[in-house]
Amino acid sequence: MTDDGPDDQPGPSRQRDVYMQGLAGVTPDLPVSYEDLEAAALEALDDDAAGYVAGGVGGEETMDANREAFRRWRIVPRMLRDVAERDRSVELFGRELSAPVLLAPIGVLSIVHDGAERAVAEAAADLDVPMVLSTASSVTLETVAETLDDEGGRGWFQLYWSSDRAVTESLVTRAEAAGYEALVVTVDTPLLSWRERDVDDAYLPFLDGEGIANYRTDPAFLDRLDADPEENELAAVREFVDVFGDPSLTWDDLAWLTDLTDLPVVVKGVLHPDDAQAAVDHGADGVVVSNHGGRQVDRAIPALEVLPEVVDRVGDDGAVLFDSGIRRGADAVVALALGADAVLLGRPYVYGLALDGADGVRAVCENFLADFDLTLGLAGQRSVAELDRSALRRRDG
Ligand SMILES: Cc1cc2nc3c(=O)[nH]c(=O)nc-3n(C[C@H](O)[C@H](O)[C@H](O)COP(=O)(O)O)c2cc1C
Repeated sequence: MTDDGPDDQPGPSRQRDVYMQGLAGVTPDLPVSYEDLEAAALEALDDDAAGYVAGGVGGEETMDANREAFRRWRIVPRMLRDVAERDRSVELFGRELSAPVLLAPIGVLSIVHDGAERAVAEAAADLDVPMVLSTASSVTLETVAETLDDEGGRGWFQLYWSSDRAVTESLVTRAEAAGYEALVVTVDTPLLSWRERDVDDAYLPFLDGEGIANYRTDPAFLDRLDADPEENELAAVREFVDVFGDPSLTWDDLAWLTDLTDLPVVVKGVLHPDDAQAAVDHGADGVVVSNHGGRQVDRAIPALEVLPEVVDRVGDDGAVLFDSGIRRGADAVVALALGADAVLLGRPYVYGLALDGADGVRAVCENFLADFDLTLGLAGQRSVAELDRSALRRRDG
């Protein structure tokens, strides 16, 4: 149970802070609506970075479809059910989360703000929201772990499975030693997809040496180089491009990884119930139903559409997390009601970072958590645990 009283819960307390500031003539620094937030952030970023973050694969049909899929679900609010105190907590892998929300792994954040992943870690820790750190981070996983530790925060590590097993093993060992609580293995990115905006801009941030901090400091990766990356940056970048992904992987390889670590392993990027089943059968402790925010396969199925089937198939055997299109509190309520154990917030926090560093991430997350808390209560739901499909109705057509 939450131990804060009705007024201290995220919704009312955030509202009170904002409206009290309003009395003094102060309005929020960041736009509150997602659409305005995105527009302001894209205006603030340089064109290459804006295209990289906002863009998707191909004609961006899946990005649009992710949002359309949410519009198909309607919440059916219930009344007079004592929602004075709402229990948003969930348990994942034996540990409690104060809310069913994590920050999605998003790489190369140095192109968005100088504070990059460190700023995200600060904000995440302040709000008690676990951060999933990308392998492709701009600062090392150890630095982010220290920032999280200093602020009492929690982290999971997202792994890009390298074609060099020694590099993969080394990254996993480092993540475990640094105190990350779970390993999120992203399986939908064995190849770089055809992202039209980036191709138009002839822009790939890694080629500028951005987002490869974990490789530049990795003993197994450095073993592959003839010279120190400081001396030959281009060679390091080329080597990174060579070893980054492994398109030859199959489900049988997953056992190698689960044997390697004591951490819970979550497979991210699952869009078919059979794949979710395969993940669990091969030793995973959970999956993230995700289409990478519409960045990998154009016309891929919206992640939300497949979520109920995945939950029905493997929900009793592992955790089912969800991302791709979460923008507001109501989106989280829908995904959780469909059976997700938790959701990952993606682009919204990156736009907060772009506009105001750690403070921007904090503001976006506070708004999101407040909106989620109020939507939950106003829908007549006392707890995340009790939320189920009876809270929803699907729109016809
Ligand atoms: C700019 C950008 C970079 C990303 N980098 C990674 C990454 O390094 N690893 C990963 O597993 N997913 C990555 N993702 C995907 C996110 O984890 C998440 O699946 C996606 O953002 C969800 O879509 P949404 O933000 O539109 O809700 C990235 C997404 C964006 C927008």
